[in-house]
Amino acid sequence: MPGLSGYDGRRRVARAMTPERLDRLRGHFITFEGGEGSGKSTHAAALAQHLTSLGIDVVLTREPGGSTGAEIIRHIILSGIAKPLGAETEAILFAAARDDHVRTVILPALEAGSWVVCDRFIDSTRVYQGVLGQVDPRLILGLERVTVGPAKPDLTFILDVPAKIGLARATARRGKDLADRFEAESIAYHESLRKAYSVLAEKEPERCIVIDGRAPREIVAERIWAAVERKFNPGQARVVERAVP
Ligand SMILES: Nc1ncnc2c1ncn2[C@@H]1O[C@H](COP(=O)(O)OP(=O)(O)O)[C@@H](O)[C@H]1O
Ligand SMILES: [Mg+2]
Repeated sequence: MPGLSGYDGRRRVARAMTPERLDRLRGHFITFEGGEGSGKSTHAAALAQHLTSLGIDVVLTREPGGSTGAEIIRHIILSGIAKPLGAETEAILFAAARDDHVRTVILPALEAGSWVVCDRFIDSTRVYQGVLGQVDPRLILGLERVTVGPAKPDLTFILDVPAKIGLARATARRGKDLADRFEAESIAYHESLRKAYSVLAEKEPERCIVIDGRAPREIVAERIWAAVERKFNPGQARVVERAVP
C-alpha cells in the first residue's frame, strides 16, 4: 500500500480504492442533512456516541471542513466573502474542501473499517448551490463524481423542521455571534431549502430518511437509532463478532 505520509500518497490510496474493494473493507458512512437549527450537529454527535458505546470505531466529522485544508476553505465560504462571486464559485469551493476531506479523513477511516458520521455532505451542495443557487446540475454531479468517488453515504438522515423554528434555534445557539453566510438568508430561502431536501429524499428513498426534527431530542435520537439498527444491525454485528473465537 502506498505511504500515507503525504497528500499525494493519500490521493493514490483513494484512487486505487475501487467501489467493489471499498465495499468489502469499509465501515458504514452516515450523513446528517437539513436546514439551520434542525439538529444535525446534536444528532450526529449523539449517534457517534451511541456507536462508540457499543465498541464501534467512529469518526465524527463535518462539512464544510473536517480536515485541515477544508477548514481553511470553510472559513472563506461561511464568512461570506465568496458570496459575491456567485453560487458556482461557492460550489467549486465546497468541492475543493470536500476533496481534501474525503481523501484525508473519510476514505482512510472507511478503509480502516471505522464508521463515519458526517454533519452535512453532498446533499447540502445539491440543495444550497444546486437548487437554491441554480448551479447547473451537470456541474454539481461532475464535482460530486470527482470529489466523492466511492465514498457515497450508505444512509442519510434529513432532519426536517419549519424554517422559523430552525432559525430561532440557530439564533439561540449562536448567542452574540453574527449569523453566517447561510444563516443570514431569508425565511423564504430556508423554506425553499426545506422543500428541496424533501424532493431529494423522495428521489432516493433507499438512502434518505426524513425525520421530524420538531420532536423532543430523545424521540429524534430514538428514531435515528431505530433506522440505524434496521439498516446495519450494529448491536447484533458486535455480538456475533464477540462470539467468534
Ligand atoms: N429535537 C430538538 N428539540 C429541541 N431543540 C433541539 C432539538 N435538536 C436540537 N436542538 C437544539 O437546537 C439547536 C440547534 O441544533 P444543532 O444540532 O446545532 O442544529 P444544526 O447543526 O442542524 O444547525 C441547539 O441548541 C440544540 O440543542
Ligand atoms: Mg450544526
